[in-house]
Amino acid sequence: MNTPLTYAMIGGGAGAFIGEVHRKAIALDNTATLVAGALSSTPERSLESAKQLGLPDNRSYGTYQELLESESSRSDKPDFIVIVTPNDTHYPIAKAALEAGFHVVLDKPATHTTEQAEELLQLARSKSLLCCVTYNYTGYPMVREARALLSSGELGPLRKAFVEYHQGWLATDLESSGQKQASWRVDPTRAGLAGALGDIGTHAENLLAFITNQEPHSVYATLKTFVPNRALDDDASVMINYESGAHAVLTASQICIGKSNALTIRVHCELGSIEWNQEAPDNLIVTKLNANPTTYTRGGPDLHQDTQLSSRIPAGHPEGYLEAFANIYRGVADHINAVRTNTEPTRLAQLIPTMTAGKQGVRFVEACVESSNSNSVVNL
Ligand SMILES: NC(=O)c1ccc[n+]([C@@H]2O[C@H](COP(=O)([O-])OP(=O)(O)OC[C@H]3O[C@@H](n4cnc5c(N)ncnc54)[C@H](O)[C@@H]3O)[C@@H](O)[C@H]2O)c1
Repeated sequence: MNTPLTYAMIGGGAGAFIGEVHRKAIALDNTATLVAGALSSTPERSLESAKQLGLPDNRSYGTYQELLESESSRSDKPDFIVIVTPNDTHYPIAKAALEAGFHVVLDKPATHTTEQAEELLQLARSKSLLCCVTYNYTGYPMVREARALLSSGELGPLRKAFVEYHQGWLATDLESSGQKQASWRVDPTRAGLAGALGDIGTHAENLLAFITNQEPHSVYATLKTFVPNRALDDDASVMINYESGAHAVLTASQICIGKSNALTIRVHCELGSIEWNQEAPDNLIVTKLNANPTTYTRGGPDLHQDTQLSSRIPAGHPEGYLEAFANIYRGVADHINAVRTNTEPTRLAQLIPTMTAGKQGVRFVEACVESSNSNSVVNL
């Protein structure tokens, strides 16, 4: 039985998107209680947002620096810090939180540069702290089933994979209206080297790596900007080569009118294939050589242990985005409790994405940008 945990949040104030998703996912399993926050980019809005969430005045902060300084000296300090601010602030805030001795949950993309990601990775290691990067799509039960199937060897070696992440919400210059989420995502000083590729392509890259258990050897990428005057890509096509000779095609685009959050993956191996779609996440289509395609269903019989551990309610009662996110947090809690009790981390704890994956994602973006700029193949 895990001890109840507490956490503080940086970012995720009024009007923000993903902070609320994190809070709901954590609350779903009563994994941890929010006890402190520095929630917005200005002190006034931070304090106002904390009030809206019912945080006590003495644990509501105007800045993340104040939060870390004050909370790290408390006897009941939070067990972990959740960082859900725009990309440019990830590195300084995560670094300060780790230096203050906190386990960290950081949203993606981890940092702006591989060097920053490497520094956070080493810092977390040297202090025996967790630095989880919320590649939340790896939390879906049927994604975990796909990974388990491929690693069992039942489908044979990887040949060809296709992963696409398509959205349509940036098909126009939404940023000129001042829309909060669009504004910083198209600004290189805030978003980083890449637009759609960094924002959603990194999820696609991570999903592919998680399911296939392989990292790209080289990439050849074309990044495009379709909306006039936008400074970053809104569309990316990447060819990925693996050392094994396997190959993958990744596309990430935010100008696909008609698409909401269309993340799909197909992986073809020598003896069969899998296909998964984020908008129908309880199903995994598995086709074995010379057999009919078969739909495996979350909650159904004969699924791998990782899948069963990641599922809550019986088949036919859909689970989705929040549950997948909550599975990452179950793993985070298990990890922290294992550290506390000096015991082996549970299976769920072993499945959570860490800064190793975060660094790989940042390196992938850098290599793709270099490849697109130089019109050449770039090794990772
Ligand atoms: N895992 C996912 O599926 C997923 C989905 C969306 C966004 N994200 C990531 O989450 C992060 C936030 O994205 P979003 O869409 O929620 O952005 P957002 O603009 O909606 O929210 C960002 C929040 O951070 C606050 N903030 C900014 N600077 C701050 C600072 N210095 N201190 C405290 N708070 C600060 C803002 O005031 C705002 O409340 C990004 O890195 C993004 O890539 C991940």
